[in-house]
Amino acid sequence: MLARVSAGLTDGTIRGDVGHLEQVRTWFGRPLWDMEPSDADAYLGRVLRGSPSGTRLARSQALSTNFLFLELRHKVEIHRMTGRVVECPIDEMNRPRGSKDAQLLGTGPGWQAGLLAHRLGDANVVTVEVDPVVAEAARRRPAAAGLHPLAVAGDAAEGYPSAVPYDRVTVTFGARRIPYAWLRQTRPGGMVLLPWGTHFGNGDALLRLTVHQGGTATGPFLRPVDFMKMRFQRLVWPFHTPDPAFAVDESTTRTALPDLGRFDPFPLAVGLRLHHVTHAVQPRDDGRTLWLCSLSNLSWAGATFHDGQDVAQVRQYGPRRLGNEFEAVFHWWVDNDLPGVECFGLTVDERGRRGWLDSPDNPVA
Ligand SMILES: C[S@@+](CC[C@H](N)C(=O)[O-])C[C@H]1O[C@@H](n2cnc3c(N)ncnc32)[C@H](O)[C@@H]1O
Repeated sequence: MLARVSAGLTDGTIRGDVGHLEQVRTWFGRPLWDMEPSDADAYLGRVLRGSPSGTRLARSQALSTNFLFLELRHKVEIHRMTGRVVECPIDEMNRPRGSKDAQLLGTGPGWQAGLLAHRLGDANVVTVEVDPVVAEAARRRPAAAGLHPLAVAGDAAEGYPSAVPYDRVTVTFGARRIPYAWLRQTRPGGMVLLPWGTHFGNGDALLRLTVHQGGTATGPFLRPVDFMKMRFQRLVWPFHTPDPAFAVDESTTRTALPDLGRFDPFPLAVGLRLHHVTHAVQPRDDGRTLWLCSLSNLSWAGATFHDGQDVAQVRQYGPRRLGNEFEAVFHWWVDNDLPGVECFGLTVDERGRRGWLDSPDNPVA
C-alpha cells in the first residue's frame, strides 16, 4: 500500500485495485500467489464472462500489478515458505481485450495519455509509442499521477488491434501515408485526428477524418501545424545520377516565388496536386533559388529569383517539367482565390487518399 502511495497513486485508485483483488481472492479462496493461468482462465472466462469489458480489464490489471509487486518484493520469501515460484497467471492468451474509447498514437512523454486517462478512465485508453525507452518512461509518468492507460511499445502503423473498435484515434506525429489500419480500427461514426502532409514540404495540417460504414473516411483540414514526423515515413532525399539522355532546358518566368513556409497554405495545395515531388528554397546573396526534385524519377528543376527583378531563370531536367507543373498549380491556386488550409480536405479508403477543395465531390487532382 505504502509503495503505491509513494508511486503517486491516489487513494481512490488504490482502493479500487484493492477492491478488485478482494473480489478475486473471495472467489479463489486461497492466497492469490497460488493462482495458475488455468485459474485466471476460469475466473475471467467463466465467472466474469457476462461482465462489462472494463470490469474484466480492470480486474486483470489489478491482478497483474499484484503479481508484479510479489515478484519484485517477495519472490524469495514466498519461495522459501511455500516452494512456489511466483508467476503472474495473466498472460497473452487470457489477457482481456476490451474495446477502448481512445487510441493515442505517439505517446511521447505521456502527457496527453495521462490527460485522456484522467478524462476517460484508464480502461478506455490505449497508447502506442515506437521508442521503447520513451514508452517505458511514458508508463511511469502517468502512473506517478495515479493514471494507468494501456501503454504499448511498437510501430503505430499497426494501431493496436486487440482493443478495437475505437471511438477516437488521435495521432501526435506527422504522417505522410495514412495506414488503413487506423480506419479499420475505428467504429463507423468515429474520428481519426492526425497531422498530415505530403513530402512536398515539412509542414503538416491537422486533418479530422470521420469513418463511414464500409471503411471510407473523409474530413477537412482544420489548421496548419508542424509535428515530429512519423518514424518509417520520413523523407529521404533522392540521389540523382545524371542521365545523358536528358539535357537541361533553360527558360525564364515572370511568376513570383509564392510563400512556401511551414504554415503557409500553398505547400499543401501543391502536395495535393503534384505527386512525388519535394522542394527546398536556397537563400542566395541576391535572392533565392527554388529547387524542385522528383521522388520517382530523375527530374528536377531550379528557379532563381533575383531581388528587385521580375524575371527568374528556370532550369529543368528529366522526363517531367517540374517547373511548369509547379507554375500550373500556382495559377490554379490563384484562380481559386488562394484557398487556405481549412478549404481543403481528404477522402481515404483502402486504395489511398484523394484531396478535395471545399467538398469531397470537388477533387483537386
Ligand atoms: C510529439 S511526440 C508526442 C507527444 C505526446 N503526445 C505527449 O503527450 O507529450 C511524438 C512521438 O511520436 C513517436 N513516434 C514517431 N513515429 C512513431 C511510430 N511510427 N509509432 C509510434 N510512435 C511514433 C515519437 O517517438 C515521439 O515520442
